[in-house]
Amino acid sequence: MRLDKFVLKSTLLTKAQVIEQISLGNVLVNDQVNTDITSQVHENNLIQLNGLTLTTRPFRYMLMHKQADTICSNADGHYPSLLNSIDVAHKDELHIAGRLDADTTGLVLITDDGRWSYNITRPECVCRKVYRVQLVKPINHDVIALFKKGLLLQGESKPTLPAELVIMSDTEVLLSITEGRYHQVKRMFFTIGNRVNALHRQQVGNVLLDMPVGKWRDLTADEVRSFQ
Ligand code: URA
Repeated sequence: MRLDKFVLKSTLLTKAQVIEQISLGNVLVNDQVNTDITSQVHENNLIQLNGLTLTTRPFRYMLMHKQADTICSNADGHYPSLLNSIDVAHKDELHIAGRLDADTTGLVLITDDGRWSYNITRPECVCRKVYRVQLVKPINHDVIALFKKGLLLQGESKPTLPAELVIMSDTEVLLSITEGRYHQVKRMFFTIGNRVNALHRQQVGNVLLDMPVGKWRDLTADEVRSFQ
């Protein structure tokens, strides 16, 4: 990890204060002054700031029930960021592992651990996501086989991986997918001549949405481990 990131993570200083402290020569790495913010350090190095030994804060892992008309981004855009409702120190270090569209509701995972979120979002990760989908037109049972076989989305050369479709009513289904392509669910239904009216994610991996809309909680240690 870069020296400035390490100091930021292990103190309550702001980024500017961290850079100032390092440039002033107040940070020692293995008893040597180090003023290069970009140098790489490891947990087993002895890193001190003004004589105090630093250890990094533990990573944070959270689950949130995203409400509609919020965005999965660190800054507000056309809609407010969902991170606005989270009040924790060092909020600017958080990011969302697996984004949802502004009009989609449901489960989002939030962390400051880039390696962990990469595990969830990398294309080879077989991580099951379950969506409750309201459709514009009634659905026919025949399409279950098409979703299972894979659908060729517009502008793509590879079909989607096998997906499981459970029909709940004429216009409501549960869809389980293991990929995270751009607007994937909406494009899958577009491909079969239907359209999504409302989309809600209720599960990612083994983690189920159990919070009221707009609220968040820390993940349990088991939930964190289930993605490692
Ligand atoms: N697929 C979509 O089309 N939108 C989402 O928000 C998530 C999956």
